[in-house]
Amino acid sequence: MSNTGTTKTTMRAWAIDAYGGPERMLLVELPVPEPQPRDVLIRMHGAEVGDWDALVREGEWPMERPFPLVLGLAGAGTVAAVGREVTCFAESDPVYAYSYPLHHNGAWAEYMLVPASYVARAPASLDLTRAGAVPIVGLTAHETLTDILEVRQGDVVLITAAAGGVGHLAVQIAAGLGAHVVATASRSNHDFVRALGAETVIDYMAEDVVTAIRARYPDGVDKALNGVTGEAANQVVRTLRDGGRMVDLPGSVSVMRSGVRVDTEYVVRADADRLTRLARMIDDGRLTVEIQDIIPFERAADALEVVLARHVRGKVVLKIA
Ligand SMILES: NC(=O)c1ccc[n+]([C@@H]2O[C@H](COP(=O)([O-])OP(=O)(O)OC[C@H]3O[C@@H](n4cnc5c(N)ncnc54)[C@H](OP(=O)(O)O)[C@@H]3O)[C@@H](O)[C@H]2O)c1
Repeated sequence: MSNTGTTKTTMRAWAIDAYGGPERMLLVELPVPEPQPRDVLIRMHGAEVGDWDALVREGEWPMERPFPLVLGLAGAGTVAAVGREVTCFAESDPVYAYSYPLHHNGAWAEYMLVPASYVARAPASLDLTRAGAVPIVGLTAHETLTDILEVRQGDVVLITAAAGGVGHLAVQIAAGLGAHVVATASRSNHDFVRALGAETVIDYMAEDVVTAIRARYPDGVDKALNGVTGEAANQVVRTLRDGGRMVDLPGSVSVMRSGVRVDTEYVVRADADRLTRLARMIDDGRLTVEIQDIIPFERAADALEVVLARHVRGKVVLKIA
């Protein structure tokens, strides 16, 4: 290791010693992980919170790591130390990262160890707590819209859960690509979602989404990025035009329809180049990150409960330092 940057040998971390519910989450003292030659050790300022953290806690998304398993998959902070082969980062650099599939230790800790190839410079225009909210939702929105759905100028794109973490970034990215964005959100979020670039906003609580979309676009939408589960996800399939395409992020669609393509297998992966592009978009003002709540590290279990209530506007982030 070089640039040790910290004299601490232990750190506080939210960990589980067996899969299960919130009662398994413990704020414990663990050794600060040691960087291998190609790793970066990040002193965490902010960590992303999403419903996927509950999947990890419950063992629904196995991490192939021994217990105690530190929760959290992404965040931002400053470089505390680098492995001896790492030349692109130095101590104190402001960085952000998402660590999956190779998951050394979690982000809900004072230090997170990540392969250097997963790490990017954090957006300069956000403080590092807020930057910690971006990696997973940013990577997801950007990759699905640009590379998988290949959104083009003039496409009609439906984005469900448009006020949420992925959704609020996805609306901006799709609108920036020249798409006509149709969004679903509760009434209280309509002005918010419109301001992000949605042309049409449907109150999914008051209107039937399929009927509302077919009234405006009788042939259906070209593409859809879905962030909701159950029957609401199945409805999205019914809004597609023949030949339409959809990414179903929760992977819960259970209806079949010929003539449309529905990807239920998407899993967001670490991608430092894409994080660099996202940082540029944020710093250029092309992407605004909405933070509903900054929650103290000690209240991580509460933060996850807020997210699981499914009405967060933008993001909830943990403040670690
Ligand atoms: N496969 C992957 O790699 C991947 C990656 C990222 C996320 N995901 C999944 O994608 C989903 C969305 O993630 P997220 O972090 O963006 O979620 P989120 O931030 O927790 O979403 C919250 C939003 O969902 C909206 N919402 C709740 N029920 C709705 C419904 N029936 N119709 C429309 N909107 C509804 C709420 O809007 P209102 O308050 O306006 O009602 C709220 O703003 C999650 O299931 C997540 O696990 C998967």
